Amino acid sequence: MIIEQIELRNWRNAGEARVEFPPGLTLITGRNAQGKTNLLEAVFFLATGRSHRTARPEELVAFGQESAVVRGTIRRSSGTFVLAAQIAGGRATRQRDGKSFRRGQDSLGDFAAVLFAPEDLLALKGAPAERRRILDLDLGQAAPAYRGAHVNYAKVLRQRNALLRNYEHPPREMLAAWDAAWAKAAIALTALRSRLVEDAAPHLGRRSAEISGSAPASLVYEPSLTGDTIDEALAQLTLRREEELRRRTSLLGPHRDDLRIEIDGRDLRLYGSQGEQRTALVAFKLAAVEVLSTRPGGAPVLLLDDVLSELDEGRRRNLLLAAMQAQTIVTTTESDLAGMEPQRTYAVRGGIYERTW
Ligand SMILES: Nc1ncnc2c1ncn2[C@@H]1O[C@H](COP(=O)(O)OP(=O)(O)OP(=O)(O)O)[C@@H](O)[C@H]1O
Ligand SMILES: [Mg+2]
Repeated sequence: MIIEQIELRNWRNAGEARVEFPPGLTLITGRNAQGKTNLLEAVFFLATGRSHRTARPEELVAFGQESAVVRGTIRRSSGTFVLAAQIAGGRATRQRDGKSFRRGQDSLGDFAAVLFAPEDLLALKGAPAERRRILDLDLGQAAPAYRGAHVNYAKVLRQRNALLRNYEHPPREMLAAWDAAWAKAAIALTALRSRLVEDAAPHLGRRSAEISGSAPASLVYEPSLTGDTIDEALAQLTLRREEELRRRTSLLGPHRDDLRIEIDGRDLRLYGSQGEQRTALVAFKLAAVEVLSTRPGGAPVLLLDDVLSELDEGRRRNLLLAAMQAQTIVTTTESDLAGMEPQRTYAVRGGIYERTW
């Protein structure tokens, strides 16, 4: 799939803008704070209905304006369609060819995008929640059931936590009912995550070795819940029962999962150099592209925000070669393109995108 063009109205610092993308590599250049990331964020929003920078849609609307609109023309082998999103009154609504998405429904599979954002580097170093977020946003797009399983688990967890919080001694039947609901939802999400990480891991290994020219990185899923039957899940829960009642919250399940990336057995979170971490994260994104490519819509769009800094020249070149398999949009503040040959270049200044090549 490719995005042929995007139109923005009052999206962040863009008043009215239109940018056309060729099927290959597009380069967006500009100095700091001009609108490079804003453009990638808009493409990502069309794909996922979410921003990687904020959970509050109103921040996406240009200062002093009431609403924002993003519209993109998407081409797949099955045909061309228009995806649109409006943000107004702190809410986002989305349409495909003018028809609204129902609440809770999303465009997953229609149009997919994988975004490398410098903020994601924090994911490698930061709390497990950050790593779960990239797992959910990137790989989650590859499984049609993922979003539903995720939403469902969050709902069950909220209710189970409310029960634990509200009662010092929760009524036995009520707790048993929520334990059972929890086990079912937790197993479903854990199984999806486990499959997706298993699918992505070999790609990540190969890509990281290609980019770095040295040892492959490995991706390891660290589920909180092990085992895949209701009985096993409930048995593990029983072991944590006292602690849960004491701390009055759920201590087991996908909300406690983690991801680990290792090179030569070294945990990158603790021992990775800047360049190694960046390389591993890019390899993770390229692996997500490959996993998503096996879905009916074909390869997703790859968005690389400021990825080139901190990579040495060899790594840059290898990265751009590896990215060739999908439509790719790259931003950079630099004029040195390290031998990149974009099909098209836009220069952005103050939210105005001007085609320069
Ligand atoms: N809701 C908004 N309304 C108007 N302007 C906004 C809004 N949100 C962000 N901006 C501004 O948009 C500008 C461009 O932001 P963007 O993140 O796209 O910069 P960038 O080109 O990626 O810069 P950098 O190279 O520093 O990453 C910033 O100056 C930011 O303050
Ligand atoms: Mg930026």
